Amino acid sequence: MITEEKKKSTSEYAERRIAPRAPVDFRVELLEGPSGTVKNMSESGALIAFPNPLEPEKRYVRFLLPLRTLALRIDSVWSKEDKGTEEFIHGVRFTDLSGDNLLFIRESLENKPVIEGHEPPTQIKRFFYNALSLQWNPEKEIDWNAPLGIDDSLCRAMADILSPIIVGEYSAFHGIPPRILSFRDYEVKQYLAAQLVDETRHAEAFDLYLARIHGKKQYRKNLRNVHILRFFNELKKLDNMDEWIAGLYLTEIMSHVLLSAYAQNVKCRLTQHLFKLILSDEARHISFANYYLKEILKSASGEDRKNMAKIPGRILKLTEGMVHSYGESGKAFGIDPGSLFAKIKHEFDARFIKNVLREKSDAAG
Ligand SMILES: [Fe+2]
Ligand SMILES: [Fe+2]
Repeated sequence: MITEEKKKSTSEYAERRIAPRAPVDFRVELLEGPSGTVKNMSESGALIAFPNPLEPEKRYVRFLLPLRTLALRIDSVWSKEDKGTEEFIHGVRFTDLSGDNLLFIRESLENKPVIEGHEPPTQIKRFFYNALSLQWNPEKEIDWNAPLGIDDSLCRAMADILSPIIVGEYSAFHGIPPRILSFRDYEVKQYLAAQLVDETRHAEAFDLYLARIHGKKQYRKNLRNVHILRFFNELKKLDNMDEWIAGLYLTEIMSHVLLSAYAQNVKCRLTQHLFKLILSDEARHISFANYYLKEILKSASGEDRKNMAKIPGRILKLTEGMVHSYGESGKAFGIDPGSLFAKIKHEFDARFIKNVLREKSDAAG
């Protein structure tokens, strides 16, 4: 008689046998449900860690790859609890994979040397190459004269809820140049120079967007918002380079959660197109910071690790004030500030506390 346990291990074995998987490390979101981390991947499936077990059914997920976000249909084949991390590991199969997505996954997994016979590029160099190959120009890419489809009061609300994100773009734009030369690793300098171009582009794209929604005056008014001032002053205090990257990382996570929520809730194609382009860059920034911090922390002292662990709690507190200060404007788009903040907190916890610091406790709370 075949027991349930036996069935499980047989399906696990069969699923693993399909194709050898390459180790990867990036976030994945269920369209309606928790986020997880992809541990390894092949052209036919992946190993994903989620906080809860998934029912074995077909569903859509979004893979937040460094280069772009992929929406894929997966079939959960087996799952088991990882006693060490208290996560549930799932073997999933890709179903209905388009040729485009297959090609993209293949490229993401390949790590060929640029020149035959030489070493393949390091992961940091790969982030740099990715940034170079995915540049876009806000002037050309967006049809700025397309109809907005949102009225004046929604435009004002949009200027409000975007204000913290736009200040974040300028904060990165001003924060990166004076620090680039302080990093010892040349490849980190190269990568940050590319991210600087991304952040400059985002600031420019939002400037055009504010002009389109007649929101510049509203944004300027919001620059006096005490919650925004407190948040960005806290970031300025991080003068150690690694802690500064951690602060930047958490700002990127916050912006990613906020923009994703706005992109889902605003019924305007121009806005959604712009936010999608920015989100694909931000996913790369998050992947870089995640990789960088994990590598740095491998050899960090207990003291450095402790200091790093204190950052998310402080940033989260200030984030909560900032999100609630525009709560009414968010509600105009059907977004509840409480659940928006809960999502940010969850992402801080999943990405920074569990994935970077490798701590189980909810230290960000
Ligand atoms: Fe940005
Ligand atoms: Fe960014």
